Amino acid sequence: MKKLFLYCSYTGNGEIVSDIFKSHEYDLRKVREKKKMPKSFFWSMMVGGFRASIHSKGKLVDYNNDISNYEEIVVGGPIWNARLNPTTNSILKETDFTNKKLTFVLYSGSGTGKKAEKKIKKIFPKANIIFLKEPKKYNEELEKLNILFN
Ligand SMILES: Cc1cc2nc3c(=O)[nH]c(=O)nc-3n(C[C@H](O)[C@H](O)[C@H](O)COP(=O)(O)O)c2cc1C
Repeated sequence: MKKLFLYCSYTGNGEIVSDIFKSHEYDLRKVREKKKMPKSFFWSMMVGGFRASIHSKGKLVDYNNDISNYEEIVVGGPIWNARLNPTTNSILKETDFTNKKLTFVLYSGSGTGKKAEKKIKKIFPKANIIFLKEPKKYNEELEKLNILFN
């Protein structure tokens, strides 16, 4: 069964997660947005938080939305303002996940993301959702992924 980890990451947490999926023979596809994050922490929180709050969708760079070769897809992305970030919003809009085994791995400062969870459950009622609290800092959080590998 072919498996794909389709993800975005801005400060490296998603990269740590991608290493785990790679070691379990998932293909990796990192998705990037044209728009760059502001350099300062303050402005990245302000701009990113605002964009997430209005459910903004980012313009993606050379996004390959063909997942026809895969049976299992894991979508990874950071939580912004309790919501999905704009890159993940675009991935969901531009990709057809029909008949795929679908899991979301969402990384955040708190290990939660209530509004993102609500949105995913509404669109993909059968999808699994796994929250990780800052996996770059708390490596033990990565053990939560083991339920996917047994
Ligand atoms: C704009 C912005 C908004 C954020 N909002 C939240 C939030 O609402 N709740 C939370 O727990 N973490 C929040 N975070 C923290 C990130 O979700 C967390 O650091 C995540 O692990 C980042 O993943 P990355 O390093 O792969 O980009 C926010 C970070 C940014 C940049």
